[in-house]
Amino acid sequence: MEIKHIAVIGAGAMGNGIAQVAATSGYRVTLMDVVPAQIEKARAAILQSTTRMVEKGKLTPDQAAAAQAIPTTPSLADTREADLVIEAATENVELKLGLYRELDKLMRPEVIIASNTSSISLTRLGGVTRRAEFIVGMHFFNPVPVMSLLEVVRGLATSESSVATAVEVGRRMGKTPVVVKDSPGFVSNRILCPMINEAVYALDEGVASVVDIDTVMKLGMNHPMGPLTLADFVGLDVMLAVMEVLHRDLGDDKYRPAPLLRRMVDAGFLGKKSGRGFYDYRKA
Ligand code: 3HC
Repeated sequence: MEIKHIAVIGAGAMGNGIAQVAATSGYRVTLMDVVPAQIEKARAAILQSTTRMVEKGKLTPDQAAAAQAIPTTPSLADTREADLVIEAATENVELKLGLYRELDKLMRPEVIIASNTSSISLTRLGGVTRRAEFIVGMHFFNPVPVMSLLEVVRGLATSESSVATAVEVGRRMGKTPVVVKDSPGFVSNRILCPMINEAVYALDEGVASVVDIDTVMKLGMNHPMGPLTLADFVGLDVMLAVMEVLHRDLGDDKYRPAPLLRRMVDAGFLGKKSGRGFYDYRKA
């Protein structure tokens, strides 16, 4: 099936970035989120990002206009005409399993449902549907308009043609797809999140300050952002969710979430999006 119309479920940082890039790549897009405030934030983010990209000559005004005009909806039923779903809902297993059951009933049987999950098993998501061969991972990276990787995740039952479609759509969106097996954290987060978790342990043990830990990794390893800045950028709740999946599913204590990370999430210090994480964004 030729993919013309993509439904993006979830308008958070990842969902709005995916919707933006799909629209600027020529796809018709519908963006769905149950939370109206999230849709408003997504509109503002897309406007800001595309305006900046036009100024820098990275997008034409027509591409920006297409992204700024993406129709949004709070209702899943409004996505039923799409040829491909990219799900970027909150990283919560029960929520996602419920969503996959609903999408399975709603979408035409041949429609691929791709998940942007950071760590949840695609095989498990596929298992609650009657279309496991059409469930695939399309794992984008934040900020989506800038980062060129697409991790395509093959679940145990995912068909070759679903993988091929995800790769093709990713390429059209200007990304470099890398196909990996369904395994906790895939490749990206299996390596990235334990590094960030270790930085939180080092902070909690008083080895160095937040700024100094970030400086070590920026200047010593040439990382564009230090690990604690990156944790704030991605969201501490997402970091904790990934570490919990790695710890539980790989069964090794080396993946134990840092207690400070858990305390910060309990306190509602989720990073940039909540105004406070390892850094304080409220005074900025
Ligand atoms: N939309 C469009 N353009 C954007 C943008 C956005 N949302 N955010 C940044 N940019 C552009 C800027 O305009 C700038 O363009 P230019 O080179 O033409 O001037 C360029 O990106 C660099 O941005 P800045 O100058 O503002 O700032 P930096 O040089 O610090 O770069 C960054 C920002 C690209 C975010 C860089 O710090 C970086 O690469 N950080 C690491 C990001 C990362 O690791 N992401 C992956 C997170 S893990 C993940 O997402 C997976 C999940 O499952 C956990």
